[in-house]
Amino acid sequence: MSTVHEAPARLLDDRAIPRAGERVTRDAYGRPITYLRVSLTDRCNLRCVYCMPAHGVKFAPRDELLTDDELIRVVRVAARLGFNRIRLTGGEPTVRPHLVEIVRAIAQTPGIDDISMTTNGLLLERLAPDLKAAGLTRINISIDTLDPARYTIMTRGGKLERVWAGILAAEAVGLTPIKLNAVVVRGLNDHEVPDLAALTLDHPWQVRFIEVMPLEGVGHVHDSGLVTTAEMIARLQERFGPLEQLPAPLSDPARVYRIAGAQGTIGFISPVSEPFCAFCNRVRLTADGKLRLCLLRNDEVDLRDFMRRGCSDDELAERIRFAIWRKPWGHGLREGDRNVGRGMSQIGG
Ligand code: 5AD
Ligand code: SF4
Repeated sequence: MSTVHEAPARLLDDRAIPRAGERVTRDAYGRPITYLRVSLTDRCNLRCVYCMPAHGVKFAPRDELLTDDELIRVVRVAARLGFNRIRLTGGEPTVRPHLVEIVRAIAQTPGIDDISMTTNGLLLERLAPDLKAAGLTRINISIDTLDPARYTIMTRGGKLERVWAGILAAEAVGLTPIKLNAVVVRGLNDHEVPDLAALTLDHPWQVRFIEVMPLEGVGHVHDSGLVTTAEMIARLQERFGPLEQLPAPLSDPARVYRIAGAQGTIGFISPVSEPFCAFCNRVRLTADGKLRLCLLRNDEVDLRDFMRRGCSDDELAERIRFAIWRKPWGHGLREGDRNVGRGMSQIGG
């Protein structure tokens, strides 16, 4: 499937933005923005090689992070503007205090009908039942390799058995469909792509292969390690024969395939080789309270200080609408533009 990467003309004014009472907020290119990815913390209990440098990561002091109330307020006001889908990310969302209470509050917000989480899974075994009971709908878990020693190397210290326990616990409580994310890096885990894909033969999971992006501090991992989706598909077809492409919503960045006879599916997320900006429906809320309008651009609008200065909900809604209107068309990775500014753990993946 082809994607449109060139930016179309911006609309001339903000008449496309619905006024109070209308259901969906659009950006200046007419894209409906309905999906908010909320980073609960910039901290993480791992240091994955493609996400953080080994040393010298600076974490935000606590008072710079949104409080639980501030975060839930942003979600409530965003829901009024037509956002209906929330994903909790990090850093690692499960290290945030009061995670279960936050999930419960978001799940009870009128207008929000889907709340998911992206996690490394280490703490999931214990948390899964409470998260499900609090209203979490489903979960994405990162697992880049099936080899415990390699997992420890890629994550700089993680224990793979904890992730497996987390995956099984999530499945047991019904946080489904389970999606497993693997960032593929040449020389580290690229030879495991077929084995990871083989998990879908016997499990109703979606294994998603993500092209590694050159984020702040880890650009060299991309430079020496990018494996394109086309190459991964070729390797899979060598082992499994032709893959069947399945329909998927255009706003899902994954292109979805199935190995003949498999229970689960395989997704490819190709931000580098096939940008999906044309169908982007999301903005991000960073843990320090900025609306980040594109993962790979530095355009951000502060909400935290605005709230701390005492704005009303209507003013906050207006500011979010203004931010969405300023959402850039897309990133310039293919053109070599990598002025990303923050690392993934500071943005929320
Ligand atoms: N490129 C692609 N994906 C990344 N992630 C973290 N860093 C990168 C990167 N450089 C992914 C993680 C996880 C999600 C939070 O972001 O694997 O799935
Ligand atoms: Fe932590 Fe996720 Fe980054 Fe790995 S990719 S260091 S688990 S935030």
